Amino acid sequence: MQAIRFYLNDRLVEDHQAPPTTTLLEYLRGHRRLTGTKEGCAEGDCGACTVVILDPAAPEGPRYRAVNACLVLLPTIQGLCVYTVEGLSEGTERHPVQEALAAALGSQCGYCTPGVVMAMFEACYREDLDEPWKLDDQMCGNLCRCTGYRPIREATASIAGARPDDRFRLRLAAPPALSRGFFRDHDGEIFAAPTALDELWPLMEAHPQARLVCGSTDLALLKTKRFERLPALISLTAIPQLRGVTRRPDGGWRIGATTILSDLEQAASSDSLIPLHRMLRYFASRQIKNIATVGGNLCNASPIGDLAPALLALGARVELSSAAGARELDLCAFFVSYRKTALRPGELLTAVLIPPLPAAALASAYKVSKRRELDISTVAAALVVELAPDGRVATIRAGFGGMAAIPARAPHLEAALLGQPWTEAHIEAALPALRRDFQPIDDLRGSAWYRATVADNLVRAFFHETREDPRPRLPQHPSSTIALSHAEAPR
Ligand SMILES: Cc1cc2nc3c(=O)[nH]c(=O)nc-3n(C[C@H](O)[C@H](O)[C@H](O)COP(=O)(O)OP(=O)(O)OC[C@H]3O[C@@H](n4cnc5c(N)ncnc54)[C@H](O)[C@@H]3O)c2cc1C
Ligand code: FES
Ligand code: FES
Repeated sequence: MQAIRFYLNDRLVEDHQAPPTTTLLEYLRGHRRLTGTKEGCAEGDCGACTVVILDPAAPEGPRYRAVNACLVLLPTIQGLCVYTVEGLSEGTERHPVQEALAAALGSQCGYCTPGVVMAMFEACYREDLDEPWKLDDQMCGNLCRCTGYRPIREATASIAGARPDDRFRLRLAAPPALSRGFFRDHDGEIFAAPTALDELWPLMEAHPQARLVCGSTDLALLKTKRFERLPALISLTAIPQLRGVTRRPDGGWRIGATTILSDLEQAASSDSLIPLHRMLRYFASRQIKNIATVGGNLCNASPIGDLAPALLALGARVELSSAAGARELDLCAFFVSYRKTALRPGELLTAVLIPPLPAAALASAYKVSKRRELDISTVAAALVVELAPDGRVATIRAGFGGMAAIPARAPHLEAALLGQPWTEAHIEAALPALRRDFQPIDDLRGSAWYRATVADNLVRAFFHETREDPRPRLPQHPSSTIALSHAEAPR
């Protein structure tokens, strides 16, 4: 049986026995007795299990990434370096992030503290935490029920970007080169991680029942929450061809399916991807964005998946590939019905293709959820509008999430606005068409009335915001994503 090999706190580890669906958290605590890493929720919400992985293939060079060990499947760290809280100090000498947290009195119950330290560790070696809101974004995946957030935030601010000249910085400059490929058949549980598409096709043919897996931020929950078996998995994360965001010669973009959301967020700060950038600011937590992928977000076909509305508005197409070749499909046609996609057996999503966005186009995106940080959408919307020289609408694409069984565009609203003057009065006149596009449901996150009202208001918000700035950015308008959820229509 092939060994899983990786560096754990700078020591090479080889495991020959663990079932391939063992989570990294189970392995650390159960097999290695590294109990500093805690289990709180086992679903990516609390951050108590945060460890750090050295990502050797990050676009701007190797970098540390905080991740939720409860959602990481052990074989997906084949060939990587993992650091836990035990690996930071040397003898009695604590790492500067530990010193900073202690000095700010940011450690209270101690249960959350190791996870907080590891999220701060990533912050310490990041070079781009140059604005206060980015600290919130970095730390929003760590809960502290005793509400010690102020000292935690102060401690993080004091070490963010410090990059001490230490062994961790040396490691960043020269990550170990271990193979990321892997195959294990363990008591009927199969896990394969091919390193090229040429290796993938025969594996998919030999194991047609296998599920594809990337960041496993959705898939691992089947194990940790529903206690389901995952008998055959093929990971796409060791295939370099599938990762990365590139500019196309026509000014459009190609986003590889296994591009992690943190990479996409960085690339999407470009003017022409602003709707994605705004959406990603309020997408999950740093730990989730550090492993979750674009392909996983689209292929789970959740009606409240956050990338879909922005990509629908940007006019994206998807590239679907199999051993027989590749085909392209409009993203609108990719979502077929509740949690069903147009993927055929033997196919996977390999890339998302975004056409160029004209310089004058108005573009933005909105996410409304009960909490601002680390919450899933009640309603999400994104719009792209191009105006003709006479001020009439020449092109409009409006993508919505949380309004139907699938993320979808709003054809009636778009038709009602196309060719009309882009004025408040014409938008008000067109909004009833949105009720023909969507008949949302009542659920815990919001009533049908609430969702329909929010959707109207997001179109209005788009009009007013883009009047001030054609591509509203962050963090000037963070409040645009906060809303109170009313369960009932007012009587
Ligand atoms: C705490 C928490 C917070 C979250 N917050 C948000 C949020 O704010 N917004 C949001 O939209 N989502 C959220 N999610 C959901 C999830 O993180 C995203 O959907 C993520 O992008 C999934 O990517 P992944 O790589 O982890 O997918 P995986 O779990 O690896 O896979 C998901 C599904 O897609 C399939 N798949 C993956 N890649 C491909 C491919 N290339 N081709 C074909 N099939 C493929 C898999 O077989 C699986 O069925 C959250 C999840 C958690 C745990
Ligand atoms: S145990 Fe809560 S995020 Fe992993
Ligand atoms: S440090 Fe654990 S609850 Fe605050």
